[in-house]
Amino acid sequence: MNKSIVFGASGQLGHCIKIVSEEMGIVDILFPNEKVANILETKLLEELFEKERPAFVINCAAYTAVDKAEDEIELARKINKDGAANLAELCNTYNATLIHVSTDFVFEGNQASPLNETDIVEPINIYGLTKLEGEKSITDTLDRYFILRTSWLYSEYGNNFVKTMLKLGQERPLLNIISDQIGTPTYAIDLASCILNIINSNSTSYGLYHYSNEGATSWYDFAKAIFNISNMPVKILPITSKEYVTKAKRPSFSVMDKSKIKQMMNFEIPYWRDSLEKCLSNIRSTAR
Ligand SMILES: NC(=O)c1ccc[n+]([C@@H]2O[C@H](COP(=O)([O-])OP(=O)(O)OC[C@H]3O[C@@H](n4cnc5c(N)ncnc54)[C@H](OP(=O)(O)O)[C@@H]3O)[C@@H](O)[C@H]2O)c1
Repeated sequence: MNKSIVFGASGQLGHCIKIVSEEMGIVDILFPNEKVANILETKLLEELFEKERPAFVINCAAYTAVDKAEDEIELARKINKDGAANLAELCNTYNATLIHVSTDFVFEGNQASPLNETDIVEPINIYGLTKLEGEKSITDTLDRYFILRTSWLYSEYGNNFVKTMLKLGQERPLLNIISDQIGTPTYAIDLASCILNIINSNSTSYGLYHYSNEGATSWYDFAKAIFNISNMPVKILPITSKEYVTKAKRPSFSVMDKSKIKQMMNFEIPYWRDSLEKCLSNIRSTAR
């Protein structure tokens, strides 16, 4: 009834949606690989939509290399903007609802209170700009969409901050971590549950939503929590963004207000540290 197709199925979030859909007993969901589900290959996409006629399309496919995007503008734009536009157009033709994932990096980051969906967007890097262009190409084309902006995504799968810290913590006794960027970590398993719950709810409250875990922290305090929960005796020192220059600038504050999605879905969102404990516990149990 609610046949869904996940694009970007082999990425971190795609993987988490697979895990959660299995736990929830959802069977009518497809995870095609990039060979048959490349969001830039319109002919292939058309064939896939024609064959499967999905009710929901979940777009986890993206160009996510934030620093590299500064040098690969056209590729980042192709995937994050044109790819999203391709899916939006096909969803329009086939009457499917598009669930698309976007980012807190659409914000400049100079605000001091949690950002809501109507706050002004002003990306300060190419990744954020192309993701914003992707959002716009969807809202210009389609009525039936849910765009979920998320932040600081991590899980036991793929490459992310938690896994990088665990690796570096085993290699080095001392780490310098940025303390002047404030945001909210999001366990990709929680975001995956949110996406599947939207599908199950059959909600028609289409629109733009913010979803992250609850609370706020800095990368420094996030790293401290990772080592503390993992009982790793790593010393970490706080440093400023000026002391650790990256090719792409990052917003200094990107905590998002989740009131809208909480009201729409009538659910509680886990606090970031509680979800981190779950993720680390899963990582520990698979390492045994
Ligand atoms: N990670 C974060 O911290 C974060 C924060 C905020 C928002 N987000 C957003 O959350 C979503 C999921 O992120 P993630 O962490 O799961 O990213 P990810 O692990 O990098 O996964 C993205 C997937 O998209 C695939 N892909 C790239 N180009 C494609 C194409 N043309 N057609 C089909 N698939 C393609 C990638 O394949 P290859 O690996 O083969 O290129 C990869 O498997 C993205 O929209 C991202 O912008 C992420």
